[in-house]
Amino acid sequence: MSKRNRLLAAAAVLAVSAGGARILAGRQVRDSAAAVVDRCTGALTRPDHPPSSPNANVPPHVLVDSPECRGRANFFDGTLVGLGANGRACATCHVAEDAFQLTPERAQAQLRALQQARLNDPAADDPLFRPIDADDFRLNGRLASDYTTLVQDGLIRVTLPLPASVRLVDPAGNPATAPLTDEMTVDIWRAVPSILDVEITGPDGQLPQWPTVSPNQRGGYQLDARIDTLQNQALSALMSHAQATSPPPPRFLDDLAAFQQTQFTSPGVERLAKAMTAGTTTLPDPDPVLTPLEQEGKAVFTRACAHCHGNPDHPSTTTSLPESIPGRIFQRYHDIRTSCPRPALPPAGSPAEDWLPCSPNVTNKIRTYEITLANGTRVRRSSSDPGRLLAVGDNADFQKFDVPNMRGLARTAPYFINNSAKTLEDVLQQYRAFFALIDRVSPTPAAPGFNVLSTDGIHRDRPFTPAEEPALLAYLRKL
Ligand code: HEC
Ligand code: HEC
Repeated sequence: MSKRNRLLAAAAVLAVSAGGARILAGRQVRDSAAAVVDRCTGALTRPDHPPSSPNANVPPHVLVDSPECRGRANFFDGTLVGLGANGRACATCHVAEDAFQLTPERAQAQLRALQQARLNDPAADDPLFRPIDADDFRLNGRLASDYTTLVQDGLIRVTLPLPASVRLVDPAGNPATAPLTDEMTVDIWRAVPSILDVEITGPDGQLPQWPTVSPNQRGGYQLDARIDTLQNQALSALMSHAQATSPPPPRFLDDLAAFQQTQFTSPGVERLAKAMTAGTTTLPDPDPVLTPLEQEGKAVFTRACAHCHGNPDHPSTTTSLPESIPGRIFQRYHDIRTSCPRPALPPAGSPAEDWLPCSPNVTNKIRTYEITLANGTRVRRSSSDPGRLLAVGDNADFQKFDVPNMRGLARTAPYFINNSAKTLEDVLQQYRAFFALIDRVSPTPAAPGFNVLSTDGIHRDRPFTPAEEPALLAYLRKL
């Protein structure tokens, strides 16, 4: 390290240790308006005058030669010299200003700006818009240009191979009788999750272990937990989303992981992550100071949500309880019916199940799958996103997803795998319907799924009441 870099690094350490620090867009910023030294570039930044957009796909001028700082440059680098990629950086989709995810509003604004710029300069470009993420890509290939799903729903095409036990049904005919196609892959459209807190949201070594033979029985990355490490995740993103034609050197991926592992939703989660990495036995509670209303909300969350979004041994909100009811194994992956179509209407006389509507852009991508069971029987099921079925091939994994992080929720709307909840109020609407469905289809404590409703295996005491919603929302917004 040069003398200048050593000085910068020292200044950065000072800024960090000054307390009250939070991380925004990969920059170290203090909550007061006082300028602090960016720990990678050495530039002075002020929270009230943010530096030029880090999402410009131009790598920031990094002076400090550390894995984190190199990784940050890589994350924002759309040129990716030598990789033959398509101009996209990680930050093209994981937008720093939006808590490192992608909102439909941003995609819409960028498309409008691009169309405007093209009036003067036909060669104007924005790497968010690449034909692979256009609706008409399978029809028009490199000439595809219909970005409806990307700008209306903020969804990205993820192409996944079909497991040996799963085939696709020809969409032209009746789903029950139409012939199978010879497709080997399927296109699924998914929201861009935030990369904040990935230090503690991947594989967690905790029970419950997923009972079926499958990859990542103890958690992983991606909405379906199909990828084991941040390095493999970044490699897959570079080869698919950025269309790299040759893989990057391993150090490039290690640096990307190092950068992402420094990005947290709050100082409380950063402290928790450090304590977990250090193997501390009594882990700190990452919650900030709560008002009485938020404390009430936390009690509701603990009763109604934390059996899936929580585990005392791994308090990241991404790991389910090993046992919700003593003696009964709880599950790691869950189907909360966010894939489309929504469940059929309940029979007359049952309480209403008021599901969030499905976007037309998601509904028009529903496919029917034929799954061969272990005993040779074949079943057909339709879904916009069959989740872990595609990672595992087992019918029991149909529409099951990894439990996502709840931290920083106030900044990561819209929600769910296909962005179907625009607000946290929408999220609660989905769960009201979900709990009502389970209440109807799990009539006795012995029925599968009953533990979703019950703390003791007898009473249906978990679902939140309308009166509890304001407190629950207040707590969710504080996470
Ligand atoms: C074209 C948009 C796009 C680009 C570019 C992109 N991603 Fe993603 N990223 C996504 C989507 C969509 C998902 C969810 C995919 C899934 O679950 O199948 C995702 C998931 C992730 C996750 C998993 C988060 C979690 O909680 O499991 C990480 C980490 C991540 N991306 C990092 C990166 C990195 C690093 C790069 C650059 C090398 C990158 N992404 C480039 C769209 C993108
Ligand atoms: C049966 C297990 C289970 C229960 C109970 C549960 N969740 Fe979830 N939750 C999940 C799974 C799995 C996902 C991922 C699927 C998705 O995002 O569509 C999820 C996703 C979410 C998301 C979306 C996160 C994002 O960034 O998109 C929010 C918000 C959420 N849950 C809040 C809650 C709240 C609040 C409760 C309690 C009222 C609750 N959950 C109860 C399993 C559960």
